[in-house]
Amino acid sequence: MERQNVVFTHMICESLERALHEINFDKLFVLMDETTRAKCYDKIRQCDALAQAGEIIIGATDTHKNVESLCHVWESLSRQGATRKSLLINLGGGMVTDLGGFAASTFKRGIKFINIPTTLLAMVDASVGGKTGINFNGLKNEIGVFNNAETVFIDSDFLSTLDTQNMLSGYAEMLKHGLISTAEHWARLVNFDVMHPDMAELQKLIQESVEVKQSIVLEDATEKGIRKALNFGHTLGHAFESLAMEQHRPILHGYAVAWGMIGELYLCHVRKNFPSDIMRQTIQFIKENYGIFQLDCKMYARIHELMTHDKKNADGIIRCTLLSSIGNIALDEELTQTDINEMLDFVRES
Ligand code: GLY
Repeated sequence: MERQNVVFTHMICESLERALHEINFDKLFVLMDETTRAKCYDKIRQCDALAQAGEIIIGATDTHKNVESLCHVWESLSRQGATRKSLLINLGGGMVTDLGGFAASTFKRGIKFINIPTTLLAMVDASVGGKTGINFNGLKNEIGVFNNAETVFIDSDFLSTLDTQNMLSGYAEMLKHGLISTAEHWARLVNFDVMHPDMAELQKLIQESVEVKQSIVLEDATEKGIRKALNFGHTLGHAFESLAMEQHRPILHGYAVAWGMIGELYLCHVRKNFPSDIMRQTIQFIKENYGIFQLDCKMYARIHELMTHDKKNADGIIRCTLLSSIGNIALDEELTQTDINEMLDFVRES
């Protein structure tokens, strides 16, 4: 896959119009969820290039990242006369960019799409790197394809619409990018006041974060190897997220990843000698900003079962990405039931 075209802008209309000029398309559609329709659409709807665009609206939050919403997008495209040369603009958080990217990639065997992420999580992670898909059968991102957006437009002004919890959710992915890249980048992240962000500094951190992701994806677009580094914290984090959903106490993705990183950092330390001071400082940052995940021993068996569905697994063995220090990545580390129990004990006690 080629390097993804990412445009950082504060003039979304001008940037969008310039890009649309370069793309050959017949009809234009904008996919939004109910929240981004209400809070973000005004920022682009006045663009001349969007005057004739069809609108497609789906329900907000991850519960709508499902096959019903996907069918609604396909049906809306069909009903509004979309052809193979039509272009879909996904305006929203990761749910919209993932689902919209998948809808576009499969409609008439694939139409072009543009991502305009409106949440921090979508800016630094979901909208970049070509992963598209939906949740299925109670499992996260179970169905999907790799396919890059034509262009991703990152305008941090959209973050003014975001609440603190969603800011923190995106920031967890940035923290992960710090741990898998350089000590300098990690240090700036753990010393940043995410509750009262300096937006100019945050914007620089976002650009660096996207660069960390881009350079990894460029090496391994389809996650055969080094891209699994981007999954640090997710093996356990996804299980926390699915468990919380089953227990009707849903948690935001980034919170699950933050708590997943606590357990996985512990394993990094005991198995790979990951420095304890960096582990402790990272865990302290997570506890201060994200609180703790409510966990008891009765949940261990179910967490183990949920972890068996991780896409990194092979031959029925649970595999995980670990670090021996910041930026030193060990892929496909096998986890036993004992490792998982120890990790969970650590999360519970920390
Ligand atoms: N969110 C992890 C990845 O894109 O590979």
